[in-house]
Amino acid sequence: MQITQHADRHHENKHVDLLILGAGWTSTFLIPLLEREGIAYAATTTDGRDGTISFKFDAESRDPEPFRALPSATTVLITFPLVGEGQSARLVSLYGSTHETASRFVQLGATSIWTAPTWHDDSSPYSHTDPRAVAEDELMAKSGGAVLNLAGLYGAARQPRDWVDRVVKTKADLKGKGALHVVHGEDVARAIVALHRNFTPGKRWLLTDLHVYDWWDLAQDWAVQTLRTTETDELQDDISIAKVERQRELLAWVGELMVEEGVRALPRETSRLGRALDGRGFWRAMGIWPIQGRLR
Ligand SMILES: NC(=O)c1ccc[n+]([C@@H]2O[C@H](COP(=O)([O-])OP(=O)(O)OC[C@H]3O[C@@H](n4cnc5c(N)ncnc54)[C@H](OP(=O)(O)O)[C@@H]3O)[C@@H](O)[C@H]2O)c1
Repeated sequence: MQITQHADRHHENKHVDLLILGAGWTSTFLIPLLEREGIAYAATTTDGRDGTISFKFDAESRDPEPFRALPSATTVLITFPLVGEGQSARLVSLYGSTHETASRFVQLGATSIWTAPTWHDDSSPYSHTDPRAVAEDELMAKSGGAVLNLAGLYGAARQPRDWVDRVVKTKADLKGKGALHVVHGEDVARAIVALHRNFTPGKRWLLTDLHVYDWWDLAQDWAVQTLRTTETDELQDDISIAKVERQRELLAWVGELMVEEGVRALPRETSRLGRALDGRGFWRAMGIWPIQGRLR
């Protein structure tokens, strides 16, 4: 990813609208949006590649020097995980002590902090022992920062159908799979820009694409789609034969589980899927809605 800094390369004294601490996968969607919207930004990576600022947060260090290389910013987006007590406070304090203007912090987190097999929204009880939740709570308490807890990230090369082989190795694995929640990188980028423009101090948000997907329904549909493309291939080598067999196996497992578990049709009712996420709150508050539609 070649990053063209909207801000001047001499970052030290330049103020930007948004400073991205950690220009990883999410930034492949965020940076093009910032450029389209004319939002001045700077971005870091741990090795300073592609024109980014080299910055690696060391939770054990009290040295302010690495922070002096960062520009001041209206909003500082932290994309990498901070964990446990002390890290958020350290980052906020070192950035604050090296910059004159106050910033608002946004931390990206995960929805895995909501664990109970029921509906959750952004105000639902979450795991207070989760190390990321501890750090997020500290960020909100110390700096009035906001947190975006993201469902599974997908888009471009990152496609949920590629996750099936990793998470479903056996029929028992599939039996245990309930709901899947995702959000597309484009919508994450839109959400970050919306939060930058309409900041909500001390607020934790839950971000999804507003769908609750049923893993059985997805596995069945994707197996059918893959079979259609693979079976029409002339090339019946060992790899494509194994692929066809795997898809047939998945189809059989879904069908058998439906019979065994008394599921009359797919997708299963949400009440049978365990943990379900209600992501309406963020989009409603920002006055925008996801634009990526459902997984295909
Ligand atoms: N994958 C999912 O489905 C999912 C779901 C929900 C939430 N999330 C969370 O969403 C966030 C964004 O995900 P992503 O896929 O965009 O992450 P990513 O691609 O891993 O990007 C993280 C960025 O942070 C930088 N970084 C890592 N450790 C750092 C440190 N100690 N100091 C400074 N920079 C550091 C990395 O630098 P380098 O590029 O130099 O390595 C990278 O640019 C992450 O917190 C992730 O855990 C992910």
